[in-house]
Amino acid sequence: NQKNECVSLSLMREDVPETETICVFGTGDMGRSLGLRLMQAGYGVIFGSRRPQNCQILPSGAQVLSHAEAAQRSHLVFIAVQREHYEFLVPLANQLKGKVLVDLSNNLMKNQYPEANAEYLQSLVPGADVVKGFNTLSAWALQNGPSDANRQVYLCGDRTEAKQEVKAVATKLGFSGLDQGSLSVSRKLEDFPLQLFPLWRLPLRIALGLTASLFFYLLIREVLFSYITEGKDISFRIMVSLANKVCPIVALTMLALCYLPGVFAAFLQLYRGTKYRCFPDWLDRWMLCRKQLGLLSLGFAFLHVLYTLIIPIRYYVRFSLSERTVSQIRENRTNVFDTSLAWHSDSYLAFGIIGFGLYVLLGITSLPSVSDALSWKEFSFVQSKLGHLTLLLCTIHTYLYGGSRFLRSYMYKWYTPPGYMLCLVLPTVVILLKLLLITPCVDRTITRIRQGWERGVDQ
Ligand code: HEM
Repeated sequence: NQKNECVSLSLMREDVPETETICVFGTGDMGRSLGLRLMQAGYGVIFGSRRPQNCQILPSGAQVLSHAEAAQRSHLVFIAVQREHYEFLVPLANQLKGKVLVDLSNNLMKNQYPEANAEYLQSLVPGADVVKGFNTLSAWALQNGPSDANRQVYLCGDRTEAKQEVKAVATKLGFSGLDQGSLSVSRKLEDFPLQLFPLWRLPLRIALGLTASLFFYLLIREVLFSYITEGKDISFRIMVSLANKVCPIVALTMLALCYLPGVFAAFLQLYRGTKYRCFPDWLDRWMLCRKQLGLLSLGFAFLHVLYTLIIPIRYYVRFSLSERTVSQIRENRTNVFDTSLAWHSDSYLAFGIIGFGLYVLLGITSLPSVSDALSWKEFSFVQSKLGHLTLLLCTIHTYLYGGSRFLRSYMYKWYTPPGYMLCLVLPTVVILLKLLLITPCVDRTITRIRQGWERGVDQ
């Protein structure tokens, strides 16, 4: 019987020292998982419940008392209760005076209430020190312990000692507590769990926007053009040929977008002559999502490689090849092997393959488990030096693929340039600007600026 078990367990834990006992208000998923983790870390846990006699299945070894009794037994009280039920804390104001209350609550949407839950809690129990924290972890993460994505516990509160106390508990549970400032930051912390892949949003929008606009551009240029001017229906090309143009073009453009903000930032520092001024907000946000831009770009490049691999087994390709061979036999023509064409095709493919190999390396080193094993110098060598080299190789691949077609007027259907020409603009700009930045005199100045030198300031 659960009631008896609670009581007998409570007797067993009577000897837990006061300082090592932590109180958890709330016996839902979150409260239970937190209680279990606290006990695994060696704390004594007392649950505060409205109906201690009817307690749910709680971690064995924990005590269950009424809220008032539980509050008296610990200096630290975790509030794992929905904000709508906070009123029950008002009559407990005396027992909670001088205690540290950790607010774990979250909301269902942003700006659901006029003030943050933690600030509301503080207004209900002004004598206590409220710390917002642990709300960015799920019950699952609490039960299973820290993982790469769930290691940080963000904290905020008005009293430093209270935050330190909560931080010490987080550390003992295996998490790392990060102080984010005063209680006024709590709304930001409460909004964290509501954000879905925040750093992926901009790159995903860019990828979708580029894909959609390129698709329509190429649809008009390739399929519609043939239909209107020659009466030929080549709509089947949408599935593979068009996709195999859209994917590499988006990949190359996004790879260039990955390195463009770094180049902008360097020129801005050169222009300002200091590194001690903040970058504009848009540049900061752009720089923060470079990894996501790069990984999405790798995904598109990977699709391009897969599409390229299936070219020989396509019905259209096999049919065209056999048709050409048959007509050659019929007309008794022979084709002369063109060494320069062979060189051209092998070279553009070779640049594509090496470029793709480096691309994959960049992707692998951006994984946290790999990047954590690299020193900062190794990481920046791969991501910056090899990254720019990848961009260069892929750009050469595309230039070589275009080859002499750049000069042929029939390529400019309805006076529009082919997709690969358009996608070369951005990478070429980035490479040229980067070349400018690594020229000795510019490089020397930028290195000095990054070491702390400021133009017009006596050192
Ligand atoms: C075009 C092969 C990697 C960018 C092509 C084409 C082939 C090819 C066969 C011509 C496609 C066609 O005729 O429609 C390869 C191989 C690669 C590779 C074998 C590596 C294993 C890459 C990478 C990029 C890239 C990493 C850069 C992101 C492009 C571009 C085009 C192209 C922009 C022109 C697309 C168009 O408008 O037709 N590649 N490629 N390729 N490739 Fe690659």
